[in-house]
Amino acid sequence: MTAIWDPQQYLKFSGPRLRPALDLLAQIAADDVRTVYDLGCGPGNLTNFFKDRWPEADIIGVDASEEMLTRAREAHDDAHDPRVKWQQADLTKWRPDVPADVLYSNAALQWVDGHETLFPGLVSSLDEGGVFAAQMPRNHKAPSHALMHDVIEASPWADTIRGARGLPPVMEPEEHYDLLRPHVSQLNIWESEFLQVLEGDNAVAEWTKGSALKPYLDALETEDQRQVFFDDYADRLRDIYPKRPDGKTLFPFRRIFIVATR
Ligand SMILES: C[S@@+](CC[C@H](N)C(=O)[O-])C[C@H]1O[C@@H](n2cnc3c(N)ncnc32)[C@H](O)[C@@H]1O
Repeated sequence: MTAIWDPQQYLKFSGPRLRPALDLLAQIAADDVRTVYDLGCGPGNLTNFFKDRWPEADIIGVDASEEMLTRAREAHDDAHDPRVKWQQADLTKWRPDVPADVLYSNAALQWVDGHETLFPGLVSSLDEGGVFAAQMPRNHKAPSHALMHDVIEASPWADTIRGARGLPPVMEPEEHYDLLRPHVSQLNIWESEFLQVLEGDNAVAEWTKGSALKPYLDALETEDQRQVFFDDYADRLRDIYPKRPDGKTLFPFRRIFIVATR
């Protein structure tokens, strides 16, 4: 995973991005928890919530991005809280040092390939009764995501951008069930579509700029090219996601949630 993450762009919408993370956390029943791993922890938005939920637990944020981990370290003075640690690692190959009580992941595993082997592998690294909890966007059929491909094809740099590794579609809920059921004692899977209320101009385009659009922007060589590409994308989205009379933009967004207990 070589993408350079931009914490500032990602955090522009930290409110709507936090809500599904907390919905996921609320469904983890485990109480006697000593080790929580936050997989793809990003800037550490969840760390304080984990501290409150499991005051005795060690909390280890794992992420591939140095930029995100730097931001996480700045936000959490872990020098004064030995329970909080950060690990730089690629989740495609990562496994916990000790059998984990909770493997939690919000809005990160959609970027990691090979769910067919990765997810059973993560579940098998849980302690008995441990919980694997993941939330991933499944919005690839929405115009915000489908239109990216039209913009790429219309772009003078289509050949360059096509080579970028975009966000692969996340599997259906039923496929996750069949994949995980043989490895777990309890399995809770659900989807929610959030009617996200966003502020600012080009709100939907600004949202994806910090996530699904980013690999395509990164594939371009100059800032000018990125601006032209982004403007075309933002123009096409404006009519589909118009500002409401109150100046806000509504962005319906589908997400899958998985809580699997070993
Ligand atoms: C959209 S952010 C989510 C951050 C955080 N979980 C949150 O909810 O705010 C996705 C994170 O996944 C990380 N990530 C993506 N692919 C990864 C991989 N293969 N290994 C480790 N981290 C990865 C990125 O660096 C990024 O910080």
